[in-house]
Amino acid sequence: QATQAVRERCKELILSDDTLRELQRRFLENIQRGLGKDTNASALVKCFITYVQDLPTGEESGKFLALDLGGTNFRVLLIEISKDHFEMRSKIFAIPQHIMLGSGERLFDHIADCLYKFSKEENLLGETLPLGFTFSFPLIQKSLTTGILKCWTKGFNCSGVVGQDVVQLLLDAIERRGDLKISVMAILNDSTGTLMSCAWLNRNCRIGLIVGTGSNACYIEKQKNAELFDGEDLGSGNVLINTEWGAFGDDGALDFIRTSYDEEIDKNSVNPGKQKHEKMISGMYMGELARLVLERFTKEGLLFGGKGSDALFTRESFYTKYVSEIESDRPGSYTNCTEILEELGIKQATEQDYINVRFICECVSRRAAHLVSAAVAALLNKMGEKKVTIGIDGSVYRYHPHFHNLMMEKISHLVDPGIVFDLMLSEDGSGRGAALVAAVACAHPR
Ligand code: BG6
Ligand code: GLC
Repeated sequence: QATQAVRERCKELILSDDTLRELQRRFLENIQRGLGKDTNASALVKCFITYVQDLPTGEESGKFLALDLGGTNFRVLLIEISKDHFEMRSKIFAIPQHIMLGSGERLFDHIADCLYKFSKEENLLGETLPLGFTFSFPLIQKSLTTGILKCWTKGFNCSGVVGQDVVQLLLDAIERRGDLKISVMAILNDSTGTLMSCAWLNRNCRIGLIVGTGSNACYIEKQKNAELFDGEDLGSGNVLINTEWGAFGDDGALDFIRTSYDEEIDKNSVNPGKQKHEKMISGMYMGELARLVLERFTKEGLLFGGKGSDALFTRESFYTKYVSEIESDRPGSYTNCTEILEELGIKQATEQDYINVRFICECVSRRAAHLVSAAVAALLNKMGEKKVTIGIDGSVYRYHPHFHNLMMEKISHLVDPGIVFDLMLSEDGSGRGAALVAAVACAHPR
């Protein structure tokens, strides 16, 4: 067991069910504002309309290119899809930090360059392939093929892109090269791709969730509730909503649970004051959150006999994967924990230190899982469907050893009686999702 003092000081990271219910209430209020014509302008959780109106039927087919920008990896993909058949080839390309923080023109030139290289390797240069663009940032959409960037999130901050249509910026970059032919059929969020891709396998899928570098969810809403929807009803009466829930709390709605660690994370980020919900949950921040707690406790003499190390006291040196690795140690064994602490230059850790470090990691990751669960439960209760599958992707969910179980347990405490749900890991989310949205767009040209 962790020491009494450590447990006491970690209490602020533990959220009771009552607190989570209060969060559900506040989150739902935010969703309603985002959906409303009159309230959207001041809403933080924007509930962007995606212009995707229906789940895949399983009849979609064709050969598509896809781009996946905004997660851990930037990828170019080639997808062939037909009834019951799916084939994908993809290549990861690096986006150096100077491009992530440079000019928009440079970013889109780089994307076009990667697209060219991939097309050349795959012998596609002679064809004009339809392309689906998974662009995992907040977009104001006017149709399936226009997306105006509202703001950058996560680690990106390229100049000259906010307020612009990113599809056009991509087309401009392709035109500057003059040696590539593509036809952009759709632009979509990763949460939308995840939902579509899981729904292709499971018709009960109604929520697409990301717990990765960032965190977000997309769900199926009735067109009549999405007051800003101005498209033509293609028959389902529904429209997928990209909630952009990362911005929940930017007005202070989460201040009653935010800690000084959260404030520190926010202050040191590229977007202070923004994405406060996301910063308490996602992989871009989880390791640093744990490190801040470790640093504070060490300085207070609660860990390592009060003796830290330069690395431990250096920002961003404790990776999110360390949290997963430490929690993957079997009970009573500290193999990963020992290795990680050694890597950080902590030489004199005792068994009690290992136990305390693990406890701190658990508090940070459990809080993230509980925050996600409260928001998911709010969406499930709002939709009111009896049986819902949630498609989910992202490195935190994939690699954390207990995230799935933590979410299953907590969501079941928080949903209305009678609602049955499950969590389905999305495979090839953005690739297949982008292809499916592009396929639907090809079938309904407008
Ligand atoms: C990937 C999807 O699998 O998961 C991306 O292809 C998505 O579209 C990503 O953005 C989210 O996870 P992470 O951890 O890479 O941010
Ligand atoms: C950030 C982005 C959002 C994306 C999420 C997960 O919150 O703003 O669009 O879905 O990260 O990648």
